[in-house]
Amino acid sequence: MADNINVLISQEDVEKRIKELGAQISEDYEGKELTVICILKGSLYYASELTKNISVPVFMEFMRCQSYGSGTVSSGDVKVTVDTCSDIKGKHVLVVEDIIDSGNTLSRLVKLLKEREPASLALTTLLDKPERRETAVDVDYIGFTIPDAFVVGYGLDYDEKYRNLPYIGVVEA
Ligand code: IMP
Ligand code: MG
Repeated sequence: MADNINVLISQEDVEKRIKELGAQISEDYEGKELTVICILKGSLYYASELTKNISVPVFMEFMRCQSYGSGTVSSGDVKVTVDTCSDIKGKHVLVVEDIIDSGNTLSRLVKLLKEREPASLALTTLLDKPERRETAVDVDYIGFTIPDAFVVGYGLDYDEKYRNLPYIGVVEA
């Protein structure tokens, strides 16, 4: 049975905001080259739309991470299941996330990427759910701050479904 999805942020509003972020990033990186790391799978649509709106030269990289159970002591590990193709040492890196919830995944990823000695490391997320934060993360560019609800679309999934919705929606309980 299909779930009922309520629109939270329309396609028009999502894309308008991404244009603004692209313009801001273009200004901030003027005269530089940018290595964008798209975190799979959820950030695919955001990274794609964002990079179309960035005017400095962009090099696209992809990573996929899996974090281990949050209830155990050893949960500090993040397992990289897909890694970048080229070395980020000395590069200006922008990590593109779909959503920050607890912040655990991204904070571990940042730690790992810093060890690779990029020239600079910045973060962007399309959506931020600050109410759910467990680990602080410094995010440079935020698309939308949203309340604590489970959202889908624009790359975000519910059991791998709904990634291809062109808007952000909430699955009705
Ligand atoms: P966290 O910040 O480590 O808790 O995890 C963030 C990841 O959890 C995101 O990259 C998403 O894959 C997933 N996630 C968190 N909240 C949602 C949601 O509302 N919808 C879909 N995926 C979510
Ligand atoms: Mg996910």
